[in-house]
Amino acid sequence: MKMRREMLVMMIICEFMIGFSKAQLRVGFYNNVCPNAESIVGGFVRDAAKSDSHIPAIMLRLHFHDCFVEGCDGSILIDGVKSQEKSAFGHQGVQGFDVIENAKAKLESVCPGVVSCADIVAMAARDAVAISHGPAYEVETGRKDGLVSNVELADRLPDVKDSIQLLKQKFFEKGLNDKDLVLLSAAHTIGTTACFFMTQRLYNFKEGGGFDPSINPSFLPELTSTCPKGGDVNLRLPMDRGSGETFDNQILQNIRSGLAVLQSDAQLMDDPTTKGIVNSYFETGASFEADFVNSIVKMGRIGTKDSSNGNIRRVCSSFN
Ligand code: HEM
Repeated sequence: MKMRREMLVMMIICEFMIGFSKAQLRVGFYNNVCPNAESIVGGFVRDAAKSDSHIPAIMLRLHFHDCFVEGCDGSILIDGVKSQEKSAFGHQGVQGFDVIENAKAKLESVCPGVVSCADIVAMAARDAVAISHGPAYEVETGRKDGLVSNVELADRLPDVKDSIQLLKQKFFEKGLNDKDLVLLSAAHTIGTTACFFMTQRLYNFKEGGGFDPSINPSFLPELTSTCPKGGDVNLRLPMDRGSGETFDNQILQNIRSGLAVLQSDAQLMDDPTTKGIVNSYFETGASFEADFVNSIVKMGRIGTKDSSNGNIRRVCSSFN
């Protein structure tokens, strides 16, 4: 009886450890085992960006969506499985899967079974930032690919309509603080949003209709002419007015001037802490680029898997 109880306790401890098992990430993980891994990924991202200037934004967003559900483990890449995570409402519009899959195919031909899809996503995001003239940073690698893909796990993705308190809470649940929320939201320095995400902010913000009063009145006509009421919700507009293809702190300047496009970005000015962080990049010597790097590296550590709870997929869109 005592023996059985001890075994049960051991099993619970093991479950606990596996559940919280994390990869030992480090810069240069592939240096010896697949020396060209980073340059191969970089080549695919750069080539894709040459034919489609939207690619850097797509790759950066993909990393966020991968990390926030089940950790940075390539779970978003799984396709063709019932109730797959990829189909979650919150992942709407996420793209870039083909770039990851093409890089993976090349990597499998030169170093089979070595480079994880989760790491390819993280490397591609790093390359995307550099291509957009943002800070060059070293990416930690050594993640394994996850063994789970479940749409229900995507329930807690941050949403554009979330209150600032809820956004803070959702980031906190991932081990990220208010400063990370500001800096990672500033990833909206590149890329575009569909008018779909603007409709409520422009036409239905309050009961009975109306726009979000935090929008600078000089900006409102610009937004409503791009996204007219009842118009095509698939039309897109830059999220960083005037600087949508360059990675810079203009997004924060826009946010503090009432020129934020997304409601979640605008809300950073509704909370004294996040507002203070936004302002610090203009009022103190704080370095936006250095702080962004810290936050994105930290995001890349969320829920990573090791060989006890992950593996290296042969194809990124399917489990082995
Ligand atoms: C604070 C929570 C966040 C919310 C509510 C949010 C929401 C959104 C929305 C609604 C879009 C437009 C999607 C579309 O129309 O296709 C978008 C785009 C984007 N997001 Fe976020 N996001 C958040 C955080 C992040 C983070 C942490 C990153 C990366 C570190 C990121 C990177 C991007 C990028 C690069 C795009 C542009 C994608 C494109 O041009 O296709 N976002 N985001």
